Amino acid sequence: MARRRQLYEGKAKILFEGPEPGTLVQYFKDDASTANGTKKGTITGKGVLNNRISEYLMSRLAEIGIPTHFVRRLNMREQLIREVEIVPLSMVVRNVAAGSLSTRLGIAEGTRLPRSIIEYYFKNEALNDPLVSEEHITAFGWAGTADLDDMVALALRINDFLMGLLLGVGITLVDFKLEFGRLWENDEMRIILADEISPDNCRLWDSKTNEKMDKDRFRRDLGKVEEGYQEVARRLGILPEAGTRDLKGPETMQ
Ligand code: TMP
Repeated sequence: MARRRQLYEGKAKILFEGPEPGTLVQYFKDDASTANGTKKGTITGKGVLNNRISEYLMSRLAEIGIPTHFVRRLNMREQLIREVEIVPLSMVVRNVAAGSLSTRLGIAEGTRLPRSIIEYYFKNEALNDPLVSEEHITAFGWAGTADLDDMVALALRINDFLMGLLLGVGITLVDFKLEFGRLWENDEMRIILADEISPDNCRLWDSKTNEKMDKDRFRRDLGKVEEGYQEVARRLGILPEAGTRDLKGPETMQ
């Protein structure tokens, strides 16, 4: 890690220059914080689990034809990804009312929505990532209409696929956040899925008991945070055999 050039450090991940042009190395940290930064902490083993969970979900999505930035996992905490120009929008897909939707609109948490709802947030930390409309996005040039259409179509396909995949292992996909990037190949540009898909940016509830298995355990001080992430990995069949001991193990597998 020491010899590589660090390009960016976020709250949960670090990006390093990749081994070949057009690639980056995405490193998953154990650090956790809430959206407005009021609460900070670490969740032991989170980086290892999110690296593995995101690898698994992005690989399954690639198999159904969703273009993603994921290339391959390099070791316990790192994956090789394609370098993209990030669209400055967080797209949230919701199936069940929770979190800010419940607060903003007064809809009880756990209410199934009449249909899946997509929301856009402008990625701007100084402004606390405000909710924006399609009008804002196109008027201010954060994305054009065609790009936005592509992102919405991908987000809905991703939602349908992940809802089914997760329900198969007893998990309700309540909501999740996606980020997309522009990938340039020769003179052609296409929108691909970027960032990560993990319990950091999804709400995942046990489909029988509605028990939370995601970052809300940290955000809301519910305890057993690591156990929630581990349970998601276990149900997906990707928890290392030796359990958490493995998660603190050597970072380099190559
Ligand atoms: P929200 O209910 O707080 O708006 O969150 C909706 C979903 O988006 C939830 O699964 C958590 C995820 N999310 C992020 O990943 N990053 C963020 O900064 C925010 C606000 C939400």
